[in-house]
Amino acid sequence: MSDSPSLDNPADHELLNDLPHPHAAPGHMYFHRMDDMTPDDFAVLQEVHETNLANLPNLLLGLLDSLGGDEAYPVDRKTHSLQAATRALRDGRDEEYVVVTLLHDVGEALGPINHGEVIAGILHPFISEGNYWMLKHHPVFQTHFYAANVGLDPDVRDEFRNSPYFDQTAEFCARYDEVSFDPDYDSEPIETFVPMVQRVLATSWQPPGKSAAAIGTEDSD
Ligand SMILES: [Fe+2]
Ligand SMILES: [Fe+2]
Repeated sequence: MSDSPSLDNPADHELLNDLPHPHAAPGHMYFHRMDDMTPDDFAVLQEVHETNLANLPNLLLGLLDSLGGDEAYPVDRKTHSLQAATRALRDGRDEEYVVVTLLHDVGEALGPINHGEVIAGILHPFISEGNYWMLKHHPVFQTHFYAANVGLDPDVRDEFRNSPYFDQTAEFCARYDEVSFDPDYDSEPIETFVPMVQRVLATSWQPPGKSAAAIGTEDSD
């Protein structure tokens, strides 16, 4: 039995925070302000972000799974997403495109007004600019297919005519998104796509902006 202060004991926290480095416990950061961060703290911070990155596929697939609870749509949005991704897969689209198609609506709960921006922002570090732009703008492009039926302008997407990604996004909506509410379509199961999601999202964490290493070598030539 030890008399050492413990992170498990709230009464010891102040004492532990006052300890000089090296840290008393592994896997914990000790700064009270970020300008007190040490290299040891930063190593732990990096581990935390690496863990978050490793968990991201399951987090997004969990959001996708939660779309299966819909009752108002003709088919629930999980079925819609699997159907759209299956159509893309059977069209021979590359793996990143299939994954983007699978996940294109998972931001709807978090962004009821801007779900395209939500998922585009989450996937931006992992995908091409074209797929990013397509995800971000697909909700506006979708309106083209139903707006006239409900008294709205079907051509609001035309404000983006000058984008190099206009045609790609229009095609995505026409071939995969707007048609994928068919209850009789035979989609692939989610298991088909899980390894694809894991591969597309596999990367290592980098701090935002220029890395400390890059700053250190900037003036060395
Ligand atoms: Fe959408
Ligand atoms: Fe959709």
